[in-house]
Parts: sequence; structure tokens; C-alpha cells
Amino acid sequence: MQRQDFRCLHRIEVRWSEVDAQKIVFNAHYLMYADVAVTDYWRQLGLPYEASFAALGGELFVKKASVTYRAPATLGDVLHVGIRCVRQGNTSLQFEAGVFRGLDLLNTVELVYVFADAATRQPLPVPQALRDLLTAYEAGESVVRTQSGSWNDLGRDAERLRLAVFVREQGVPREIEIDEFDPVARHAVVFNGLGQPIATGRLVSDGPGVGRIGRMAVDRNVRGGRWGRMVLDSLLDASRQRGDREVVLHAQRHAESFYLRAGFTPEGEPYEEAGIPHITMRKVLAS
Ligand SMILES: CC(C)(COP(=O)(O)OP(=O)(O)OC[C@H]1O[C@@H](n2cnc3c(N)ncnc32)[C@H](O)[C@@H]1OP(=O)(O)O)[C@@H](O)C(=O)NCCC(=O)NCCS
Repeated sequence: MQRQDFRCLHRIEVRWSEVDAQKIVFNAHYLMYADVAVTDYWRQLGLPYEASFAALGGELFVKKASVTYRAPATLGDVLHVGIRCVRQGNTSLQFEAGVFRGLDLLNTVELVYVFADAATRQPLPVPQALRDLLTAYEAGESVVRTQSGSWNDLGRDAERLRLAVFVREQGVPREIEIDEFDPVARHAVVFNGLGQPIATGRLVSDGPGVGRIGRMAVDRNVRGGRWGRMVLDSLLDASRQRGDREVVLHAQRHAESFYLRAGFTPEGEPYEEAGIPHITMRKVLAS
């Protein structure tokens, strides 16, 4: 087993609470590391666990978890836990985790889950939609699709996400969240393999040759899966294609690094919008 065998690699730093007197990781923590990596796996598949498994009509229950120890991890180590689905049974799914320090394999974890009814816990056949997604992901294929269009095309899905993120999570009043720009904006939505919207954003005009991107929202359960970046890139493409020279946006301060990584530069002083600290950022578009 090698690090490059895994498409999903979750980074973990060994903490004080996880080591014993010799500063070696206590063996039971490897199960925890594998479990956290599985959470990341669903994120990489674009599946917000609760909503997705509710739609699939069941949940995954751990049937077996076993660790094989080869070498210890110690305090301060940075580990990468690779996780992959190695077998699809009738009602079960088998995952394998590899705990790496650099390229060195320290330990492996085997996990067997059973897909079962959430209430009765009676095993059910693994749904075909989930099988297809796992097969596609492990084969290195894309597991989402990005759609770009009008409010008419995408409003229902974009609104669902924006109400969850901005209104319910961030406390923005509904009457300012859905506004008069929506019917004229170009919207982008990323849909997961089950057809559920997981990320959205919109592009409007801010003057001749200047686009304005906003309302960027990713389902909180799959943040960090690069879905926000996918939406941003799609809106930047749309802006470039219609001939804009540059794009401006009002970034929430906590998301400044997200936009910096995409080539935006902050300008001016920070300010508040809807009670949230913001900063204006701009990106010149290459033709
Ligand atoms: C901000 C938001 C849209 C980012 O989307 P995301 O899907 O979580 O981000 P991605 O996984 O696409 O991240 C792309 C890159 O930005 C980085 N990044 C994302 N959010 C970040 C943050 N808050 N701080 C620092 N870096 C961040 C990622 O690490 C990744 O870096 P890499 O290119 O080096 O790998 C999303 O977190 C979100 O919806 N937040 C709540 C709503 C919100 O605040 N919207 C922004 C309004 S301006």
C-alpha cells in the first residue's frame, strides 16, 4: 500500500492528548483518525452525510474495525490518512485506511460498514447511486457537475443553499439575501452525484467591463472540498467570456484567503455589511 494509491488523504497533526508517556500515539486513536478521514471522504465525494444518506434511504453502520500496527507515530508528527473503498458487497462496504508519515506507511485500518435502515437497523442493499459514485470516485472521475444559468434555471437550488448558509447559519435577514439582482444575475450551482445542490454563487455587472461576484455559499458539511473554488472558477469564466476586464467582490473577512488563493487582491479599508466584516477584493482577468 502506497500513499499515491489514495485519492482522499486527510491531514492530521498528532496532539498531546493522543500520546502516552513515551510520546507515542495510543493505539485506539488510529480508529479515530480513520473515522475522521472517512468524514473527509464523503466531503470529497460531495455528499453532505446527513442529507445524502437520508436521500439514499439508509445509513452506514460500522460492523468491523481493525488496526494493523507497523510503526508508531509520535507527538508533533504530521500524518496523512488515506482512505479508499476497496469492496462493495451486497449490503456492506469495505474501506481501507493507510496512515502515512511522509511516504512511510505506519499503520493500516480496515473498516466494514453495513448500509441499513436508520430506524430499524435492518441491512439494505447498497443503493446503485452510491455504488456508481464510489466506483467513479475511486476511478479518478468527477463526481459532481457544475451548471450555470439564470435564476429561472437555478433559483430553486441556489435559494435553498443561500437560505441555509446566509440566513440560518449567518443570520442575514431573508429580505436582503434574495434581492433584485437575482433575476438578472448569472448563477452557478455545483450538484453532487445525487443531484443535490452543494455550492452556489452569482455574477452581476458592476459597470462597463466589470463583473461582480457574490452570494458564494457552500453546504457547511462539504466545505473544504474545493466546491467553492469550482463555483468561483465557473463565474470567472462566465465573466471573461462576456468580455469583462476585471471582477470585484465584497469578501467576508474570514473568506479573504479563499479569494486570495484565486488571485484576488484586497483594496481599501474593511467595512461591515449585514453586520459582517467585509473587504473589497479585485481580480484583473487575463484575456
Ligand atoms: C467561503 C466558501 C465559499 C469557500 O468554499 P469552500 O468550498 O469551503 O472552499 P474550497 O474548498 O473551494 O477552497 C479553495 C481553497 O481556498 C482555501 N480556503 C477555503 N476557505 C478558506 C478560509 N476560510 N480560510 C482560508 N483558506 C480557505 C482552501 O484551503 C483551498 O486552498 P488550496 O487552493 O490551497 O487547496 C465556503 O467556505 C462558504 O460557503 N462559507 C460560508 C459562506 C461564506 O462565508 N461565503 C463567502 C461570502 S464572501
